[in-house]
This record gives sequence, structure tokens and C-alpha cells, in this order.
Amino acid sequence: MYVCLCNGITERAVRDAALSGARDLSDLIAMTGCASSCGSCADVAMQILDEARPERRFPLALIPLAA
Ligand code: FES
Repeated sequence: MYVCLCNGITERAVRDAALSGARDLSDLIAMTGCASSCGSCADVAMQILDEARPERRFPLALIPLAA
């Protein structure tokens, strides 16, 4: 699914950016170009980015400790 029609950025690209360390809109723009034109995709892109952040997907409390 395209998130950013101006720049042809897909949801997958936003998720990949999150896994590569993108944490805010500035990171996302620098890494993908998403939201760098009209900006109308910024809210949806940030929602996807937030959901895809590794620390959100794997909260520290759920990481098993080594014995
Ligand atoms: S739709 Fe993403 S910058 Fe226009």
C-alpha cells in the first residue's frame, strides 16, 4: 500500500525505515523522502512508523533474560 503518493513511498518502506532506526518525521523524510512534498501523508506515515518501532513491537519487559 502506498503511504506517500507524491514520492511513491510504500508502507513497507516506512516499516523498513523504523527497523533501520527512524524515530521521528525528520528521520523518515531523510531515509525515505516520505512526507517531503505536500505533507498530507505525514500523520499516517508517523502512525505506521510508531507501530513498527522495534521497541514497541518487542517491549523490554517481554525480552527473556539470560539465565
Ligand atoms: S503524499 Fe506524501 S508528500 Fe504528498
